[in-house]
Amino acid sequence: MADQFPAGFVWGVSTASYQIEGAWDADGKGENIWDRFSHTPGKIANGDTGDVACDHYHRYQEDVQLMQRLGVQAYRFSTSWARIQPSGRGKPNPGGIDFYNRLIDSLLAHNIEPWLCLYHWDLPQALQDAGSGWANRDTALRFGEYAELLGRQFGDRVKRWVLLNEPNVFTVFGYLYGRMAPGVTDFSEFMRASHHTNLAQGLGAQALRATVSDPLIGNALNLSPVHPRSDSQADLEAAERFDQFWNGWYLEPLFNGRYPELADPVLETMAVQPGDLDLIKGCIDWLGVNFYSRTVISYDPDVPLLQGSNNPPPDTPKMALGLEIYPQGLEEILVQVKERYNNPPIYITENGMGRHEQAVPGQVIEDSARIKFLHANLHHLHNALERGVDMRGYFVWSLLDNFEWDSGYKERFGLVSVDYATGARTPKRSFEWYQSVIEHNALETSA
Ligand code: FCB
Repeated sequence: MADQFPAGFVWGVSTASYQIEGAWDADGKGENIWDRFSHTPGKIANGDTGDVACDHYHRYQEDVQLMQRLGVQAYRFSTSWARIQPSGRGKPNPGGIDFYNRLIDSLLAHNIEPWLCLYHWDLPQALQDAGSGWANRDTALRFGEYAELLGRQFGDRVKRWVLLNEPNVFTVFGYLYGRMAPGVTDFSEFMRASHHTNLAQGLGAQALRATVSDPLIGNALNLSPVHPRSDSQADLEAAERFDQFWNGWYLEPLFNGRYPELADPVLETMAVQPGDLDLIKGCIDWLGVNFYSRTVISYDPDVPLLQGSNNPPPDTPKMALGLEIYPQGLEEILVQVKERYNNPPIYITENGMGRHEQAVPGQVIEDSARIKFLHANLHHLHNALERGVDMRGYFVWSLLDNFEWDSGYKERFGLVSVDYATGARTPKRSFEWYQSVIEHNALETSA
């Protein structure tokens, strides 16, 4: 018995520039907010930084070969904005352009389609300094110019574009809770950032359509079904608010050209201007969903607007990062999106499991827990397909173990383990498992 996937279903892996590239100041690259944040004592577990990371900048050929061995048809990576435009504006930096040209050409030579994500959290520091980054409307305009530049440089070979990675995550954790770069804790900056990231998607898509022929533009939203922690009225209402924020804040503007009701009292704080929502509505061709877990919400009066916070039950299984293992949530959120938004084409742009593993040179990591996790998620994805969701493909997070933001290198998500002392890469058991799923375009249901 097998869950068979449709012909043409795309199998891939995802990574992000800051998490793997290293070479943080090489060949004209400018400083970005994650360089600054990770160089600030106390911000990252163990004092880790992305200065070297997986050194993918120098070892990309080996990584492309690994992907070829894995059999993926597509690779989603992100470009580092400060490598392309060191201060976030103006002329391109030849060193950065060269690097991505080499990477794209190498992918194509190995029959792997490049899926270029324009922004995976590493804003040029100069744009942060000029007016608090995404809290400043100008950053969205700069993003439009950056998109145009990328379109001109790479659009002859790149057709798949991913606008912003998880704007809900980087605005909440970067501007409200301050746990991530730029480390701000200010409600009104958070609200402005949330609108300006929506606006940036509209402007970015417009610029790509003007510079690339036949682009296929999507994004990567972290979506999650939201459940109340108890059946108390307070928890039920908090869960409803949280759903409007977590899932609705980006989906509603994209598909319906409006913010959810929850935004009504704060539209002015968000600095929404006339015409913005028209620009955002319908700007994508397909929806990218990053899925990790469900969200379980308790009433929490201390969180402005949302008045709720994530509070998963203590006794359910968790992966590293404290995320609940809840694969059925993938099916639930996909069916929800289908029903609410008229069944758009969807790719899972991230799904994966973090673990604490020890890289031992020459030894294959037996990550059966990861295999089980991915298997269960794919089974629920297949159920969603059977329930009529227009699923087009799936990307594992991640190809390599990498720099996991404020958790540093402790959390490992790779199908390939990285020995950070030497940079040596060793495929884990899950690599072989994924290889076989791709080869058969099917999931053995008995595994
Ligand atoms: C997602 C991020 C990605 C990675 C995974 C584990 O939220 O997009 O960069 O950190 O989580």
